[in-house]
Amino acid sequence: MRTPIIAGNWKMNKTITEAVNLVRAMRSELNEVPGVDKVLCPPFPALAAVKELLEPTTIKLGAQNMHWEEQGAYTGEISPLMLKELCQYVILGHSERRQYFGETDEGVNKKIKAALVHSLIPIICVGENLAQNEAGQTETVISGQLKGCLADLSAEQVRGLIIAYEPIWAIGTGRPATGAGANAVIGQVIRGTISDLYDEATAQAVRIQYGGSVNPKNIAEFMSQSEIDGALVGGASLRAADFVEIVRISAQVKGTLARA
Ligand code: 13P
Repeated sequence: MRTPIIAGNWKMNKTITEAVNLVRAMRSELNEVPGVDKVLCPPFPALAAVKELLEPTTIKLGAQNMHWEEQGAYTGEISPLMLKELCQYVILGHSERRQYFGETDEGVNKKIKAALVHSLIPIICVGENLAQNEAGQTETVISGQLKGCLADLSAEQVRGLIIAYEPIWAIGTGRPATGAGANAVIGQVIRGTISDLYDEATAQAVRIQYGGSVNPKNIAEFMSQSEIDGALVGGASLRAADFVEIVRISAQVKGTLARA
């Protein structure tokens, strides 16, 4: 039984003051939803303030990126040593980091290893772009990303990871994948690749989210799929009522919260 996990990726949005207000607006309602892991991923400057607000709750905190070294001459970077005092999760290899900041599977692999050394749980993003999708390359692209990102990791390490399937064409476009389409990629391609690289038990243990234009109206379609364990939510995670609703519906669909 995989515990559902809903994470909000705030991307480059919210000042410290705005972040505090957003968390205050949703933390008690979010905290009350049983049986779903909830993670907020604000920008770095807001982590300390949000950490304090979340301390009396079960809501966890994540960062959106990280360097693989512990310290040193890397101007502008943030290390796992710094993050482990603040949060429990870290998003790695988001398509925006790959697209705009030149991140590679090799770099993501280094970051995953560094995160695990410091007991941070990586949320690893994979997904194909529109051209690759239309050319029928989804499977090749994603299995390649997984092989690169997971290089040298043990089965035990892989079981503790969160993977997010985020088709790039669905991110911020208001055009999500279908539940069935995402389920097929997650089950056949992502779990299939992990089964080939490791074993079926490992493929079944890892928790896999869908991300891309998730909102309160479509979350049920994704959460009712057998292979989908959660969502990585962008835009809708910036609105307190929407994010609470997404988490609540997820708990209802997965059976951890009675339907109203
Ligand atoms: P949107 O939910 O805004 O499409 O963003 C998805 C995403 O990239 C989350 O990491």
